[in-house]
Amino acid sequence: MTQDLLRVAMPKGRIYKQASKLFREAGIPIPDDFDDSRKLIIPFPEAGMEFIMAKPVDVPTYVEYGTADIGVVGKDVLIEENRRVYELLDLNIARCRMSVIGLPDWKPVLHPRVATKYPNAASRYFREKGQQVEVIKLNGSIELAPLIGLADRIVDMVETGQTLKENGLVELEQIHSITSRLIANRVSYRMKNDRIQEICDRLQQVVSVAT
Ligand code: PRP
Repeated sequence: MTQDLLRVAMPKGRIYKQASKLFREAGIPIPDDFDDSRKLIIPFPEAGMEFIMAKPVDVPTYVEYGTADIGVVGKDVLIEENRRVYELLDLNIARCRMSVIGLPDWKPVLHPRVATKYPNAASRYFREKGQQVEVIKLNGSIELAPLIGLADRIVDMVETGQTLKENGLVELEQIHSITSRLIANRVSYRMKNDRIQEICDRLQQVVSVAT
C-alpha cells in the first residue's frame, strides 16, 4: 500500500448502512447502496482513500496485518478474535448484546452443550463462572440449536429480540453490551497519525451529536 493511500475496511451486511451513514455525516461521502453490489473495492481518490468490503469477522484481520489502515467492526468480533489492533472510537451504532439464550423451561444439566458463533467468548464466559460446558461452533442460525436438541443453550447476539420471540427462546444472561468500533492498525496509527486522527475526530463529532 502506498504511503498516501488510506484503506478502510468496512463490514458487509447489517452494519454497513449505519456505518456508511456516519462516514457521510462526517464529510466522507461513501455510497449507502454499495453493499447491494458485488464490488469489493470502492476507490475514493479525491480523498486519498479506498474502502474495502470485508466479511465483518475478517475486518480485524485486514487491519492487524496492515492491509487496511483502519476499519469498522462490532465489539463482538473484537472480543472473539482478540486481534492486535487499536480500538479508537465507539461509533455507537449497531447496538445489541451478546447473551446466553435458551428455552424458557431450560434446566441445568451435568455436561451442558452451548452452541455459538463465538466459541472463544463463550468459553471464557463459562470458565470465569466456573461452569464446565462443551462449546459447539456454528456459523449462523444459532437459534436452531436448542430447538432441535443440538445444544442446551446458545451464546448469540440479540438486537430487537425478534428472532428469539419468533422461535420461542428467552435471554437468560447478558454477557456483553455491543456497539461498532473504529479500529486502527498499530503501525498505520503512528505513520498516518494525522489522517487517521482527523477521521477519528470527525466521526467523534457526529457520534456525539447522535447520542
Ligand atoms: C443475528 C444474531 C441473531 C439475530 C438477532 O443473526 O445471530 O440471530 O441477528 O437479531 P434480532 O434480535 O434483531 O432478531 P444474523 O441476522 O446476523 O444471521 P445469522 O443467523 O446467520 O447469524
